[in-house]
Amino acid sequence: MTPPTQEKSPPTPPTHTWEPKIVAFCCNYCAYAAADLAGAKRMQYPANIRVVHAPCTGKVEMEHILAAFENGADGVLIAGCLEGGCHFQEGNLRARKRVERLRRMLDDIGLDGRRLTMTNLSAAMAPTFVQRVQETVQLIRDLGPNPLTIRAATVRERSNEAHVAATVRERPNTVPESAGIK
Ligand code: FES
Repeated sequence: MTPPTQEKSPPTPPTHTWEPKIVAFCCNYCAYAAADLAGAKRMQYPANIRVVHAPCTGKVEMEHILAAFENGADGVLIAGCLEGGCHFQEGNLRARKRVERLRRMLDDIGLDGRRLTMTNLSAAMAPTFVQRVQETVQLIRDLGPNPLTIRAATVRERSNEAHVAATVRERPNTVPESAGIK
């Protein structure tokens, strides 16, 4: 008699410990200065954000943004000078176009383009910087973890399970260390 086939349950994200990780590319002249000012004024904002100092948002290439997602960011925020205020003239306008193009690409590959956002600030707009960070964190909380990291975690989990099963098969009287039983 053949044993009943067990249906595999779909992978579940590790939501119990999950906190959104957000990379914020901030241009040197305005957004980074606004972030700095927020820190100097002791304004509170979520610790989920990792600020990356960029010379100008126009210098943040697609590869940088994609690398952030590939390396586990759940969201990316591009923060630059106000329109018309870019110190490299049109850097932030080029960045805006790039962001729009990339959002469509992220939609196409199932990553959800809403994970990538852009904002424009002056150096004095610390409260706006804090507000944008809070909004981004909330948005990413609603969207959930980056699907790329869920897939990677599932693959890692399955390979660990396979390793434990293989060890038990080879040495049935020993408990593998990786099983975590002391
Ligand atoms: Fe700030 Fe270009 S220098 S966006």
